[in-house]
Amino acid sequence: MKRDILSITDLSREEIYELLGSAADLKEKRKAGEPTEYLKNKSLGMIFEKSSTRTRVSFEVGMTDFGGHALYLNPRDIQIGRGETIEDTARTLSGYLHGLMARVMSHETVKKLAEYSTIPIINALSDREHPCQILGDFMTIMEYKNRLEGLKFAWVGDGNNVCNSALLGSAVMGMEFVVACPKGYEPKTEFLEKAKALGGKFTITDDPKAAAKDADVIYTDVWVSMGDEEEQEKRLKDFVTFQVNTALLSLAKPDVIVMHCLPARRGLEITDEVMDGPNSVVFEEAENRLHAQKALMLKLMR
Ligand code: CP
Ligand code: NVA
Repeated sequence: MKRDILSITDLSREEIYELLGSAADLKEKRKAGEPTEYLKNKSLGMIFEKSSTRTRVSFEVGMTDFGGHALYLNPRDIQIGRGETIEDTARTLSGYLHGLMARVMSHETVKKLAEYSTIPIINALSDREHPCQILGDFMTIMEYKNRLEGLKFAWVGDGNNVCNSALLGSAVMGMEFVVACPKGYEPKTEFLEKAKALGGKFTITDDPKAAAKDADVIYTDVWVSMGDEEEQEKRLKDFVTFQVNTALLSLAKPDVIVMHCLPARRGLEITDEVMDGPNSVVFEEAENRLHAQKALMLKLMR
């Protein structure tokens, strides 16, 4: 039976720990230059309806590390752009590929790909979630804190796709999650309900200071996500007091780690001083996307 990962909740706590172990092992092997041709002669398709630096390069390099191949599929170049349905595309690609990752405008598209394909589908960011990001982030948190359970994870900023995955992932892993966002930008009720059903301990506040207080992890993301560009002017005003800066950081635990999925808009959601400062782990986090996704591809495609 093929497995799809459309949400971080498609993985159990045990499976996430297993993936993090495998990712750490793959990271060591890569640093040691050991061959890891575990997906030799296998091919991963990569559909990108939106821009990407990290996701695209890490998946492609991951397949190269495994002795396999990755194909970048721009919807404008393939027949989807001329009206071929997602259903027919999913069926067709299932005949060639061993896995498919997709970054989509609408979450419905990854759902349809999963429903109509016989190969594993990985959500590489939709309007709802970004599960691959959170896997890499959990790996990074483990490296610095050696645990996930019981940590205070403070999300400062927009209750967006990455926030939804962080909220749900924290619920799965037993972390305390606090979202600080301006009124009206909270994660949607259905995500809060899902987190609650998973036993998640979370609070929502419009006070970034309350969120940052004694935090082990402070996480932020852009105020204007891909697809939200029309709201840019309003958002930049609404979020102005939600910047992760030195003053906010001083309220957290001294060994707090600062995370950002990147790309960052320096000077808006995060200052240069914090992003380049000693608590920032943003580039380790970016690198760990590679190792975590490799572990995921092995689990789904081997
Ligand atoms: N964090 C992340 O997914 O980055 P890209 O948009 O560059 O892939
Ligand atoms: N929330 C951002 C994340 C980018 C990786 C977006 O959706 O644009």
